[in-house]
Amino acid sequence: STDPLVVFTPSGKRGNFPVGTPILTAARQLGVDLDSVCGGRGICAKCQITPSYGEFPKHGVTVSDGALSDWNKVEQRYKDKRGLTEGRRLGCQATVQGDVVIDVPPESQVHRQVVRKAATARDITMDPATHLYFVEVQEPDMHEPTGDLERLERALREQWGIDHITADLTILSRLQPVLRKGKWQVTVALHKSHKDSAHKVLEIWPGLTEDRIYGLAIDLGSTTIAAHLCDLRNGEVKASSGVMNPQIRFGEDLMSRVSYAMMNPGGDKEMTNAVRMAINGLTEAIATEAGIRPFQILETVFVCNPVMHHLLLGIDPVELGQAPFALTTSESLELNARDLDLTVMNENAQVYILPCIAGHVGADCAAVALSEEPGKSEDLVLVVDVGTNAEILLGNTSRVLACSSPTGPAFEGAQISSGQRAAPGAIERIEINPETKEPRFQVIGSDLWSDEDGFSAAIATTGITGICGSGIIEAVAEMRMAGLLDESGLIGSAEQTGTARNIPEGRTHSYLIHDASAEGGPRITVTQGDIRAIQLAKSALYAGARLLMDEMGVDRVDRVVLAGAFGAHISTKHAMVLGMIPDAPLDKVSSAGNAAGTGARIALCNIAARSEIEQVVHQITKVETAIEPRFQEHFVAASAIPHKTDPFPDLAS
Ligand code: FES
Repeated sequence: STDPLVVFTPSGKRGNFPVGTPILTAARQLGVDLDSVCGGRGICAKCQITPSYGEFPKHGVTVSDGALSDWNKVEQRYKDKRGLTEGRRLGCQATVQGDVVIDVPPESQVHRQVVRKAATARDITMDPATHLYFVEVQEPDMHEPTGDLERLERALREQWGIDHITADLTILSRLQPVLRKGKWQVTVALHKSHKDSAHKVLEIWPGLTEDRIYGLAIDLGSTTIAAHLCDLRNGEVKASSGVMNPQIRFGEDLMSRVSYAMMNPGGDKEMTNAVRMAINGLTEAIATEAGIRPFQILETVFVCNPVMHHLLLGIDPVELGQAPFALTTSESLELNARDLDLTVMNENAQVYILPCIAGHVGADCAAVALSEEPGKSEDLVLVVDVGTNAEILLGNTSRVLACSSPTGPAFEGAQISSGQRAAPGAIERIEINPETKEPRFQVIGSDLWSDEDGFSAAIATTGITGICGSGIIEAVAEMRMAGLLDESGLIGSAEQTGTARNIPEGRTHSYLIHDASAEGGPRITVTQGDIRAIQLAKSALYAGARLLMDEMGVDRVDRVVLAGAFGAHISTKHAMVLGMIPDAPLDKVSSAGNAAGTGARIALCNIAARSEIEQVVHQITKVETAIEPRFQEHFVAASAIPHKTDPFPDLAS
């Protein structure tokens, strides 16, 4: 007489269990991913399942010995109070009665896959550092002289197998009233360090909380600060938002900020305060947008370049301004948010900063490596993350090289006459008809082109406000293809190009894209100065990539991944026309969105990824562009569009 067979779908895991075994117990023994916050007490409903073949006893029916099953009473109580979808059962209450096939719906899977990596198509599963646990704590009495924290700790050990916990004063000061309010039942948010597995109490609620907990993944760039707010239970991105980095007023690029710190006593502190306040403002805004309260944010992951890294931490970046560019530390960091004055999120929120690689190659580059995994690629892949500083990686399974190239903020819309951050109202796509030289474009916030019906209505609230980074890349490439500018980047006159849109401006010419000045709106042009700014930026980018290719001893790469912290994906074709990246077959060039931001999300959602990247950075070889004479040579040659000497055979075809 064998025990009934229990089969779980979609995992396919199976085993035999005695009649009366709770399904949650069977799932745990088989390693089936079935969620639970309350530990099987029938109150959290995270363990819902659907029998797809076979039966459990109905709610409230008697079992063999004539008694009403206790399990089902609990389940019935839940159903009466909160309701359960038809066909759903609580996995901790329903018990094995006979052979059964059980479907675990996606909402009941804790470790469901959330972040899909673009280039490698590898999925990241949910396993964040912070989890919620519901526990019943023993009441104190005269014979049990231990403290409330010790009894909470014992409850976590007995009910969840968690060994040792720590709690800051902020928690200790609330522990007693919360335990009593919850009648000795509480939910705790526990953070586990991937380094030493230490558990720390971040938040505590009376009873079983309905609150969800969230984390922020922040890509702290020189020009833009971009954040994703993620639900820490399922990894869902609840809101994404960005602000300009207010440090811009101290200098547009990294080196000018380092010089500001060198020239002005206390300048580093000023910049530290500015960026921390901006992050607080962004936290507030993103919480409001998602309709949550900021105290529900329990974790934040940062990725940033070394200068931003030091300024965020309140460390003077002066050593990064001169060779040998020593970092204070390149190790990853686990910190309290409040130590960084990040006071809008939960007062106990934890911060994780990815490791830096070395010198000017920072945690943002590590995040790109985590997201795009060049070290796992069989073919030679070039990964370029475009920003005010470009992070560039070249490698395959045998070797990975990395550098950081100072492109300046032009690709983020700064230093461009009509430039702006990627936000609703910004032109992000543009086409120029090679015959008529007339432009048509798309604006962030609508899928319609400017010459389509309904365009004006679709953008009525935002209007047309400027051009963002991906828009300016397309504009310059389209101008080149339409013959509006020559290989050296010079914009022709109306007579030379045959369009009245090329208008004189001083001794140079500008191309007019959109003119709403008659109605008091903006007049959007691409000026000769804009072209020069883009040429400088793209030359720096290309030179960085070429330097890595020299170092690797190759003339060509197999694949290119183009990433950037823009609202839209960069058009690979336009990037190639511009000569931002080395020549490669266009079908081997892919656009990966914000790779550094994805890396930050991966580290937020999965603690194993934190250990992984801490290993991987040691296998990446840093190449320093600032002291490499060949960088200058490559830079000068890359100024032409697409390039002065390097051939672009794939472009021609
Ligand atoms: Fe909480 Fe089943 S585990 S209701």
